[in-house]
Amino acid sequence: MANASACPCYPNDVRLVHIPNTRVKSKSLGSLRYILTAKLMNIMDVTDLLDAFEKDGFYEWRNFQDTADAMAVRTELLETEQSNGFKQAAIGKQGEAMVNSGQRSDTIHWIAADSAAPYTAQVLEKLSEIITVLNRNFYLGIRDFECHYTHYPPGSFYKRHVDRHRSGSSRVVSFVLYLNADWQLDDGGELVIYEGSSEAAVIRPQLGTLAIFLSEKEHEVLITARDRMSITGWLLTESIL
Ligand code: OGA
Ligand code: MN
Repeated sequence: MANASACPCYPNDVRLVHIPNTRVKSKSLGSLRYILTAKLMNIMDVTDLLDAFEKDGFYEWRNFQDTADAMAVRTELLETEQSNGFKQAAIGKQGEAMVNSGQRSDTIHWIAADSAAPYTAQVLEKLSEIITVLNRNFYLGIRDFECHYTHYPPGSFYKRHVDRHRSGSSRVVSFVLYLNADWQLDDGGELVIYEGSSEAAVIRPQLGTLAIFLSEKEHEVLITARDRMSITGWLLTESIL
């Protein structure tokens, strides 16, 4: 299996990696992709992400965090919830955000990147690498990201919506890292991504899975029967202060 650290060819943080012919080819780069030195991620996983993103605009990245690391992030979430409490999530742009429990019924706690707990910080570092990779390959102009811990109690949901607000949202890519062990089919709570009127993907909120998709895509969280935990966030074209 290809391994970034085994490739001595470029001194910088960028590798030119040859992708086998069976993969979807980038229009601009032929069969070559720009891939960050994957210190924190397997290079083939990054390649799969880029191929899926180009073709479909979303990717279900299973085992983005292994079981032990994902469980450690879950523990950090639970500790934060115990000590601070989570607040009811709102909808709408910042400044005009409103709680609307008919639209969504999750509770959240914003993560401060500079004081994140250690296993959560590790996730944020990997997301920084993903930003570099997406920018280099798709010129998305991502400059920052924001994220929160999320808890959907049993019976909660988030109806069909887009994350990119019509009037000038800087959210371009949405991501969700799920933190729920042994998710069963009848637990519900799937993320459904739509393409027109059809379902393009139905993603189970399984421990360690990262769902990542263009924020303009319509999507929905189906009613969950179990407590459903995650880190939810957005890659932004503007820096946040
Ligand atoms: C959101 C959202 C999806 C999920 O918070 O905007 O769509 O699977 N979350 O939790
Ligand atoms: Mn959303």
